[in-house]
Amino acid sequence: MTHWWQRGAIYQIYPRSFQDTNGDGVGDLAGILGRLDYLEWLGVDACWISPIFRSPMADFGYDVADYRDVDPLFGTLSDLDELIADMHRRGMRLLLDFVPNHTSSAHPWFVDSRSSRDSEHRDWYIWRDPAPGGGPPNKFQSLFLGSAWEWDEPTGQYYFHSFLREQPDLDWTNAAVRTAMLDVMRFWFRRGVDGFRVDVVNLLAKGPELATPDHPDEHLAWGQEPAIHPLMRELRAVANEFDDKVLIGEIWLPPTELVTFYGTELDELHLPFNFGLLELEEWTAETVCKAVGDYEAAMPAKAWPNWVLGNHDRHRVVSRIGERQARVAQMLLLTLRGTPTLYYGDEIGMFDVEIPRSQWRDPQGLRGGDTRDDERTPMRWDASELGGFTTGTPWLPMGQPAGIDVATQRDEPTSMLALVRSLLELRRAEPALNVGTWTDLGHAGTALAYIRAEVAPGERRFLVCLNLGDKPAALPAAASSLRGTILMSTLDPQRRGPFEGRDLAADEGLVIRLD
Ligand code: GLC
Repeated sequence: MTHWWQRGAIYQIYPRSFQDTNGDGVGDLAGILGRLDYLEWLGVDACWISPIFRSPMADFGYDVADYRDVDPLFGTLSDLDELIADMHRRGMRLLLDFVPNHTSSAHPWFVDSRSSRDSEHRDWYIWRDPAPGGGPPNKFQSLFLGSAWEWDEPTGQYYFHSFLREQPDLDWTNAAVRTAMLDVMRFWFRRGVDGFRVDVVNLLAKGPELATPDHPDEHLAWGQEPAIHPLMRELRAVANEFDDKVLIGEIWLPPTELVTFYGTELDELHLPFNFGLLELEEWTAETVCKAVGDYEAAMPAKAWPNWVLGNHDRHRVVSRIGERQARVAQMLLLTLRGTPTLYYGDEIGMFDVEIPRSQWRDPQGLRGGDTRDDERTPMRWDASELGGFTTGTPWLPMGQPAGIDVATQRDEPTSMLALVRSLLELRRAEPALNVGTWTDLGHAGTALAYIRAEVAPGERRFLVCLNLGDKPAALPAAASSLRGTILMSTLDPQRRGPFEGRDLAADEGLVIRLD
């Protein structure tokens, strides 16, 4: 038996940037609701929406002040209920973004925690005395730069924050924290939410070095802490109380460590996010083959893979590898074995918008890191000045030119949108392409190839050949001897015809049904 989250494709919505309906320049839930026709037409099976909970928005919603309510900026709880119901009517699923590692400093738990050393929630967070000679307990750094320790004068201790000082880390060794947070998951599951993308989930277990004075390191050894796995099992047990829910964890670790988050009994996360393609420094047949091969080789038996090409934290795929190769990358994403996650706007080829520093909004950029605003600009629905995104002033500049918009590309048979939609359609129609097996045929020069096949012998088999270069390329030997019918090309999603082992054109990718 396969699950919807194995067969289907997930679409990530960054809600601030998807569709505004009230003219405040920020997207909202009513906007997502109004675009469900589009998402259904596109052919995605589920949406993951980045956080929409009550928040002071210091990290644009990844600083949650109330896990059980919708921020008024995005709408109301009943808007969310309506969205869930409408998606379910269409056979689509909704995933929310669960942020368990830290709350907002405005969360009532933290407000109480910092109010006195004896407060009820004091030990829900990580408080430490200054180092013996004064100053922070040790050298640990926040992932947003600067010390991870913030001095709190009224109670004379430091608290720990992996990210902003407005995002104090919860202490997951505290059973009361675990109970409260697991109940948050139940709250949403009962409301009909189909699963969660779980934010920085491997940061939950911190290990004893956190409080070691004079610790030589600046960062915790996140993910290698054995205490993380029992926590993952607790999250999974809650999901298992309900039917067919999914947990997808955000974890930035290499394949061999990443896959430990499936659990030795497959009793941890359904899908630890695989960022192998997102993290490639070089986009070549060799590096892609290696990323895919290393990950497939690391996969535990019966665990289900997944692939990501873009998200709200990394530069867009078009900006990383160019528009022509982004088309090849979409073909890869949508024909590999494993659940694909698409980042909103990538299906129309949106690129990173270079935003002048004076207009930066992302706290990571403002604190001296790489700004993530570039990849978070508003979705362009049509060719008008404000792209159909808002009637007000967009919270970030639109940036994308007309043409990189849904309305224009809908009518263009060779557009990026037409390609992505055709790939999603084919993937959905062919079990070999969604739940089938994957066999590597290796790479030669700039080309690579693999086969997807149904599990039973004699069933349909597909050959995927991709040219990751901008010059024609011969196929790997194992692919050139195969024969079949071309069903689609990155150069023209409608291209059909016999396949006789020919070379690939520049930037060409082919899906071929084998004889
Ligand atoms: C995750 C999110 C990122 C956020 C951080 C802190 O990495 O994807 O956007 O800033 O967690 O919550």
